[in-house]
Amino acid sequence: MTTVDTTPSWTDLLSTWDAQQAGYLPRREERFAAMVRALGAAVGDRFTVLDLGCGPGSLSQRVLDAYPEATAVAVDADPLLLRLGRNALTGYDDRLRWVDADLRDPSWTSLVGVGRVDAVVSTTALHWLEPGALFALYQRVGQLLRPGGVLLNGDNMPYDPGQALHQRLADEATKRATHEAFTVAGVPDWERWWSLAGDALAGEARERQRRRERADERYGPRDGDRLTSLGTHVTALTEAGFREIGTIWQDLDDRVLLAVR
Ligand SMILES: C[S@@+](CC[C@H](N)C(=O)[O-])C[C@H]1O[C@@H](n2cnc3c(N)ncnc32)[C@H](O)[C@@H]1O
Repeated sequence: MTTVDTTPSWTDLLSTWDAQQAGYLPRREERFAAMVRALGAAVGDRFTVLDLGCGPGSLSQRVLDAYPEATAVAVDADPLLLRLGRNALTGYDDRLRWVDADLRDPSWTSLVGVGRVDAVVSTTALHWLEPGALFALYQRVGQLLRPGGVLLNGDNMPYDPGQALHQRLADEATKRATHEAFTVAGVPDWERWWSLAGDALAGEARERQRRRERADERYGPRDGDRLTSLGTHVTALTEAGFREIGTIWQDLDDRVLLAVR
């Protein structure tokens, strides 16, 4: 009897990751494009960039494709997403390096193994950090960036409490988008993607679970529903010595924040 291998390929798994993320963020590619354009305008064509909370490297991939002389260091703490990225994004040779590190642990800066960098980018990742950890992270990013270098953070940054109607419009837009993607179009949502990935990468899925339990013990459990507001990001960046802090792209509460070192 012939058995059919139904294991998804690395590139299939990366494509479904991108589709899943775009289900929550229908303008995700537009957001990436805005960040890629801003990088070139800020630091030219040849630069070193850190991608924080890189996941399987979707943003690094787009940056390296747009700038053939750039190099990226992609940092994440998730063993499954790192394995996926390493295996799906081959072909960049030493232009793409992966670092397995938790951004809440101060040792991550020494693990990246670079001196000063030209740019730091991040998408849909820093909202996982509690405000105290975010303040500390921006301080460290400020120390790693060369003067004139830039931070670009693309993420959902809720409106401040006085802007309840704005926030309601943002929440309703997300509800419509997720219904369209996951219910109507049948794209795997977060839960379903992790179940597919866990079937394909069982060892990494178990390691991921172990690490999460250890991290919860060390840092306390995360409140995944309470995202850090735009105001808190701006205050944290100001305290870390950044200037020209402002939004360069926006779709309701989904924004790209640019800050100059
Ligand atoms: C929703 S994913 C986004 C991944 C990728 N940036 C993208 O846009 O596709 C959030 C990522 O942040 C990473 N992350 C969250 N907290 C982290 C931490 N404390 N240290 C390192 N990575 C973290 C997760 O492991 C995950 O890969």
